[in-house]
Amino acid sequence: MNKVLNIGSVSLGTKLKRIFWILVNTLFFKPTPTILFRRWRLLLLRLFGAEIASSANVYSSVKIWAPWNLKMAKNSCLGPNVICYNQALVELKEGVVVSQYTYLCTAGHDISLHNSAEKGLVVAPITVNQNAWVGAKAYIGMGVEIGEYAVIGATASVYKDVEPWMVVGGNPAKVIKRRIINEEGT
Ligand SMILES: CC(C)(COP(=O)(O)OP(=O)(O)OC[C@H]1O[C@@H](n2cnc3c(N)ncnc32)[C@H](O)[C@@H]1OP(=O)(O)O)[C@@H](O)C(=O)NCCC(=O)NCCS
Repeated sequence: MNKVLNIGSVSLGTKLKRIFWILVNTLFFKPTPTILFRRWRLLLLRLFGAEIASSANVYSSVKIWAPWNLKMAKNSCLGPNVICYNQALVELKEGVVVSQYTYLCTAGHDISLHNSAEKGLVVAPITVNQNAWVGAKAYIGMGVEIGEYAVIGATASVYKDVEPWMVVGGNPAKVIKRRIINEEGT
């Protein structure tokens, strides 16, 4: 995958920022009721470098590794208990919904190295394009780009890019069908 970058290990600067974020997260983010404190949580994420539209929503149970690696456009949402392991950028475009317990995984280890756990940290960004929906308990791997209006079925494991308007499911995720929008709802 050509988007993958070998960064060896987590830098000292990142570790220090993470200590502050973990403190703020534990004390001021996690304990907030989800609906009433939406804007407050966005403010905290922005203070740590996230780029988030004011109409976006991040539930209080979401785990974000690095707010400075998070971009969320208008009306995008990280749902309950999502894990956003964003050692590299996670970008949600307009109208994207990521449902319960999904794991967005931007990092791993270069398994071709003998000491991969120690020195082989590899990272790659995840992009979810506009109006795509990621169903519950999905796994989205590093470097994956999900096309606009695509649907990732519940529990799917996605290791490769998903074409726009495709509905995918399974592990590894395969195309189930093309998404069709019926405006009348009939
Ligand atoms: C992917 C999804 C949107 C498809 O819904 P649908 O259009 O009604 O599709 P169908 O139920 O008609 O299923 C079509 C086929 O795909 C399969 N399929 C559906 N969802 C699947 C999934 N998540 N993984 C693997 N296969 C799936 C069905 O078994 C069926 O297979 P078949 O043609 O061999 O019988 C839906 O199944 C899904 O996963 N929704 C996510 C729900 C969710 O996460 N909710 C929580 C937040 S609100």
